[in-house]
Amino acid sequence: MNNQPAATNDSSDGEDVSPDRVLIFDTTLRDGEQAPGFSMDLHAKLKLAHALEELGVDILEAGFPQASPDDFNAVAKIAQSLTKTTVAGLARCVPGDIDSCARALEGARRSRIHLFLSTSPLHREHKLGMSKQQVVEATVRSVERARQLCHEVEFSAEDALRTEPDFLVEVFNAAAAAGATTLNAPDTVGYTTPAEMFELFTYLRKNVRNAENLIFSSHCHNDLGMAVANSLAAVSAGARQMECTINGIGERAGNAALEELVMALKVRAPHFGVSTGIDTRKLYPTSRLLTQLTGQGVPRNKAIVGDNAFAHESGIHQHGMLKHRGTYEIMHPQDVGIAETSLVLGKHSGRHALRERLQKLGHTPDDATLDGIFARFKMLADQRRDIHDDDLQALALGQDPDTTGPWSLLRLNASSQLGGGSSTAVTLVHEDGREVAETGAGDGPVDAVLHAITRATGTELALTQFQIRAMGEGGNAQGRAELTARHGSLDWHGNGVSTDIVEAAALAALAIVNRIERQAPARSHSAPKALESTP
Ligand code: KIV
Ligand code: ZN
Repeated sequence: MNNQPAATNDSSDGEDVSPDRVLIFDTTLRDGEQAPGFSMDLHAKLKLAHALEELGVDILEAGFPQASPDDFNAVAKIAQSLTKTTVAGLARCVPGDIDSCARALEGARRSRIHLFLSTSPLHREHKLGMSKQQVVEATVRSVERARQLCHEVEFSAEDALRTEPDFLVEVFNAAAAAGATTLNAPDTVGYTTPAEMFELFTYLRKNVRNAENLIFSSHCHNDLGMAVANSLAAVSAGARQMECTINGIGERAGNAALEELVMALKVRAPHFGVSTGIDTRKLYPTSRLLTQLTGQGVPRNKAIVGDNAFAHESGIHQHGMLKHRGTYEIMHPQDVGIAETSLVLGKHSGRHALRERLQKLGHTPDDATLDGIFARFKMLADQRRDIHDDDLQALALGQDPDTTGPWSLLRLNASSQLGGGSSTAVTLVHEDGREVAETGAGDGPVDAVLHAITRATGTELALTQFQIRAMGEGGNAQGRAELTARHGSLDWHGNGVSTDIVEAAALAALAIVNRIERQAPARSHSAPKALESTP
């Protein structure tokens, strides 16, 4: 259902935009950052702020300046360095907060002071000790003060969803008359439902004076898992700003996830009839940036940006996807910045997906050969949770994926100079009894170890891809090195796992060398050659 406002709304740069446009107010650096486990230093905040500007958020809440000198500094630096986005700072309805927020925002191209004050009976009585009248008076005083000090003022009625609706209208009327142009009704404790949200926003738009010239905003928390649904219900009732965070981070169970809101409005555009200014192809990269900056990943099954969001393992789904992607996907992975759908090969997968993957790896088995590979693949998949390209390659070459050797790593020494190159010494043992020691130099320790292994084994490899994935957390975390290198006319895949990433890379390179040598045992070892490319 759509309940559009009649008038235009005001975009982040103060220009009128279509009433069908929903403004995205990102609070990753304020509500998100204040949650346990998500704190960021100034460098990280600036990096994320620039990524959010590129993503196209309309308003970026950079922090709560009065909370600490670090917060003040971060808001000030972000305000000075963004060139398109409106920068907001949070302030309580007290003069000290408002003044320091205004000072922090001084350098912003467009600034917004975001004032908040609780309005619900529970908060009035137990948190503030204020009467209704006092709440209204403090709101008016604060909005009037803030209005003199920045480009625009937003007023949030904290715990709005547990506030008497008629009192909420009274406070909003007072805030708007004092100069606030955005009125935010936060579901501070994540208590409400989509139907209640729709009802409240419809009521506000009907009863707040001059509603057609104001922006109504949602700010939903996820305590009952309804933050996204509740925000969308507000939009259906005419809200034209949604407050949200990347990956849904935020107090307790988090805030509404920006990527989910934006993609819901895009994928279901005919239903909602509104759009945002977000460049959706930057959603996944921005989500990943946040996980890198905070060290907090997202669950595999997280909507839009989780590892499984565009992955299919079951044979029936994979078969459907290969015939027509629309069978099991409602959006293109490229639309959110993910390179491609992945057909994950596991125990639920079928022959169609296996054939397709083998072709990508350079193998085109005939039907009878594919039958044999498929049977061995199913046996392997029953034993293992993950099947990787190197396992499939081994199966295609008629090798046992679990076989190791002939080479194994005996010793490894890596050293790096700050600002200079790296060198590595390896000692390898061959199952025929040879022990070979070699050194390698390179731009980094991984580059150097690959050169050393190439020289020791005499296997020519042109590195095409290298990545490290973290497995587990804390002191016991391991790195999984995934390496692809060209040898002959094939790309070869190798994996290595270790708590030391240089060792993981060495094991991945050795896995490749071993598979090549098992395939052609008579090959000469006498003509070692350096790697042709580096990671
Ligand atoms: O959840 C909340 O009520 C808030 C306000 C400060 C907007 O974060
Ligand atoms: Zn909040």
